[in-house]
Amino acid sequence: MDTARTVVALRAKIRTWRSAGDRIALVPTMGALHAGHLSLIEAGKRRAHRVVASIFVNPKQFGANEDLDRYPRQEARDAELLRQAGCDLLFLPPADAVYPAGYSTSVSVAGLDRPMEGASRPGHFDGVATVVTKLLLMAFPDVAIFGEKDWQQLAIIRRLAIDLNIPAEIVGAPIIREADGLAMSSRNAYLQPQQRAVAGALFRTLQAAASTITGGAAVTDTLSAARAGLESAGFRVDYLLLADEQTLQLLNQPLPGARLFVAAKLGATRLIDNFPVIPR
Ligand code: PAF
Repeated sequence: MDTARTVVALRAKIRTWRSAGDRIALVPTMGALHAGHLSLIEAGKRRAHRVVASIFVNPKQFGANEDLDRYPRQEARDAELLRQAGCDLLFLPPADAVYPAGYSTSVSVAGLDRPMEGASRPGHFDGVATVVTKLLLMAFPDVAIFGEKDWQQLAIIRRLAIDLNIPAEIVGAPIIREADGLAMSSRNAYLQPQQRAVAGALFRTLQAAASTITGGAAVTDTLSAARAGLESAGFRVDYLLLADEQTLQLLNQPLPGARLFVAAKLGATRLIDNFPVIPR
């Protein structure tokens, strides 16, 4: 696996592959890789001849009180995991290769960035949309793969690719979970052992609420009970709601495309998850 640290080097490598007729997949990440990320590399390998992974801890998507400084960084370990997973190229740009002096442009996907994560993390999705647009324009992949754990992010990226005529196919890959159901996330590393011991309840609560709703129970009652259960297990629930998985509009009944979304804190660590609700 090669490493490119500049856009020029990234494009030079991709150009040689393209001239041989290869299809290119891009897997953007912020590093601290886990099995969820490696499943994105596998998804890329199934869809393209060459897989490029980027690692860039994007300062623009962190709020002033968020964890930019303590976000886990483990470049050498990540590079080794990518190599073992069969990634062809690691793009590892320094901050000034992405945001050079005088950088002034922001991409904003209005509407989809309002609810859920957007309400709790102002500016977050502008940062995500900006860096993903840049990565798509730097690498110009045929396909780009993102995890479904960040469902709202995925919806926003699909929208910006359509709106900005970026020809990459945007693919969502299923959430990879720990044995107790906890969705894999780089931020899980922040959990203290006693927090980690209860964290799986987040997924089990979503799963149980989804089947209760499918069984015909009222959405509001089910979600209030689920929220109370999480709070008594030690979570501070930010939101727990049912929404349409494309428009992200709130739903009060399980129409086709309904999905449960949750964000909750255990101590200082904010966890998110989502789960589909199958209408009866
Ligand atoms: O999901 C992530 O890790 C990041 O939000 C992404 C898509 C790499 C953009 O920085």
